[in-house]
Amino acid sequence: MSTAELFELEMLGGATERRFRKMRPEVEAMPWGTLDLTGAKEEDLIAARQAWTSAAYQEHRTGVGCAITLKALIEARAPLDLIALASRFPLDEMVHVELCARMAMELGGGTEIVHDPKAMVLPPNPDATPLMQAAECAVRYFCVGEAISIPLLRATWHVAEHPLPKAILGRIVKDEAAHGTFGFTFLDWALPRLSQDDLVTLGKAADLAIEFLHDQWDYTAKHRREPKHEGDVLGWMQTGDYLDLAERSLERLVIRPLESRGIPLASKRAPRYALTERRSDSA
Ligand SMILES: [Fe+2]
Ligand SMILES: [Fe+2]
Repeated sequence: MSTAELFELEMLGGATERRFRKMRPEVEAMPWGTLDLTGAKEEDLIAARQAWTSAAYQEHRTGVGCAITLKALIEARAPLDLIALASRFPLDEMVHVELCARMAMELGGGTEIVHDPKAMVLPPNPDATPLMQAAECAVRYFCVGEAISIPLLRATWHVAEHPLPKAILGRIVKDEAAHGTFGFTFLDWALPRLSQDDLVTLGKAADLAIEFLHDQWDYTAKHRREPKHEGDVLGWMQTGDYLDLAERSLERLVIRPLESRGIPLASKRAPRYALTERRSDSA
């Protein structure tokens, strides 16, 4: 049964917040309150608020993926040090949620997102063994989802100019480095324990996650955002640059590393957002 709820967040405050701040002091160390929005265009402000609210929601979703993966790793009795490493990921994602949500607040407030909290991510096959559930999570959430986000976040950080979004994106990029390599570290441990049929199943799981990315990029391509004027509040990458980097990174950081581990992929397609196409688009 689907339940549509507003994506809203709260803090408990008091001793709980103080303990959280102690764990992750970098959140309060960000240059909050330094954005000067004088003269910003209303439409740019709304676009920026929407973009950061959506980023907060994506981090929130990723938190669910990390938590499900952690449960599966424990049930699969994956190596303790590997599980311990992954136990930090849900906390990282909650930090990222707060950073993005507070950035939206700095721009005037979050925008409305309605979601189904029980359907934010696709869970692993409930009939699979603990090892295969963990492997499915590692492949879909990490080898595809987290691995592709690193170059895109890094490039967005690179183009950010104002110290506040730069610091926020810099923090996220720093944390995500460990998330991006985790899936492949897990696979290298799990592979000797998996059959050829298991690898085919994992290939299908990866295909599903890659298809999801393509759907997202198709949506992004249809809703291009390429402001040319000075003082653009958001200051993220131009859509064409983003899509071009996304396609190249998918091949280099997701498809090739999975295939080199014997995981067969069906989701081959010619990159739709090639550099040359973008150039002719904007010409
Ligand atoms: Fe994150
Ligand atoms: Fe992450």
